[in-house]
Amino acid sequence: MLLDEPSNHLDIDTTRWLENYLANQPQGMIIVSHDRYFLDKVTNKTFELHAGKITSYPGGYKQYVRLRDERFERQLKEWESQKEFVEKQEEYIRRAHYGQMSKQAQSRVKVLDKLDRLEKPTKVSGPAIQFHDVTRSGDVVFHAEDLGMSYGDLKLFSGLNFDVKRGQRVGILGPNGTGKTTLLRILLGDEEPSEGLIRRGHLVFPGYLDQHLKLLPEEETVLKAIWPEPDPSLTEQTMRNLLGSFGPPRGNLRSEGRSSLRRGKEPGRFGEAYHRRYERPRPRRTDEPPRFVGLRCPRGSVEGVRGNLLGRQP
Ligand SMILES: Nc1ncnc2c1ncn2[C@@H]1O[C@H](COP(=O)(O)OP(=O)(O)OP(=O)(O)O)[C@@H](O)[C@H]1O
Ligand SMILES: [Mg+2]
Repeated sequence: MLLDEPSNHLDIDTTRWLENYLANQPQGMIIVSHDRYFLDKVTNKTFELHAGKITSYPGGYKQYVRLRDERFERQLKEWESQKEFVEKQEEYIRRAHYGQMSKQAQSRVKVLDKLDRLEKPTKVSGPAIQFHDVTRSGDVVFHAEDLGMSYGDLKLFSGLNFDVKRGQRVGILGPNGTGKTTLLRILLGDEEPSEGLIRRGHLVFPGYLDQHLKLLPEEETVLKAIWPEPDPSLTEQTMRNLLGSFGPPRGNLRSEGRSSLRRGKEPGRFGEAYHRRYERPRPRRTDEPPRFVGLRCPRGSVEGVRGNLLGRQP
């Protein structure tokens, strides 16, 4: 059985069911996944595809990380000691070339010729993403009172009372379709609640990474999509560097529409790029400016965030 990212978009309970189901199957399977917990539960052998090569490791994800790091350290030491050896020989050969020791020098040249040169190992690493500091908001970021939402007969939630304080990181859990995204949209002010009220704190500015990436204009080219406003402080090179920090781009950023890149991972990457471009606090509404960072993105990219996080990690 070949499974390509089977747990994407599944809620936690369904993911857990799938994990158990697959772990108990007698058949062999190959699974592509970005979910390290899922991999650890289901797999017992790991292939790493990096720098154009496949390396096989015994065990699941956790063991792979340990073995990979050990292997890197070992390869780096081997590479360094070979480099030192080669430099010593070359130095000897250079000095001895015109002198009496040319015979020994020649044999060293032969040794070097026969030597299998090691490649400098490269480390598997995440993108170099940095978030800027943000201005300090009031102590209470959101205050919800008897909040409720229905679409016609479809009642999503009611009677929600909560405060989100500055610096808190809140995860919203719930099966698919229960109203998590709707709640975020209400917090942002993009949707009016059908009951109750939501108050945003002083100096609260939102940053929002939309689950469906609707923020990125579908019909625009990739460059334009993440760079929608003429901003003299930004150059095309700055935007290219921003995209480049998510890995080498596929396709032509200037001419290709971002929808043509939908097939790959680009929407998510560009979503993050877009988010990063806009995460500098900017007031959305000057009377009641909210500050709020909502992210759903891979581990690693949220680590530099200062502020409040709401969202659902896969
Ligand atoms: N504008 C709308 N009009 C009518 N129904 C809507 C609207 N927006 C969302 N819904 C419905 O409300 C429910 C909750 O949607 P929402 O996207 O908030 O769920 P979710 O918890 O984020 O789900 P998922 O885990 O799949 O992301 C769904 O049944 C959806 O079809
Ligand atoms: Mg949602």
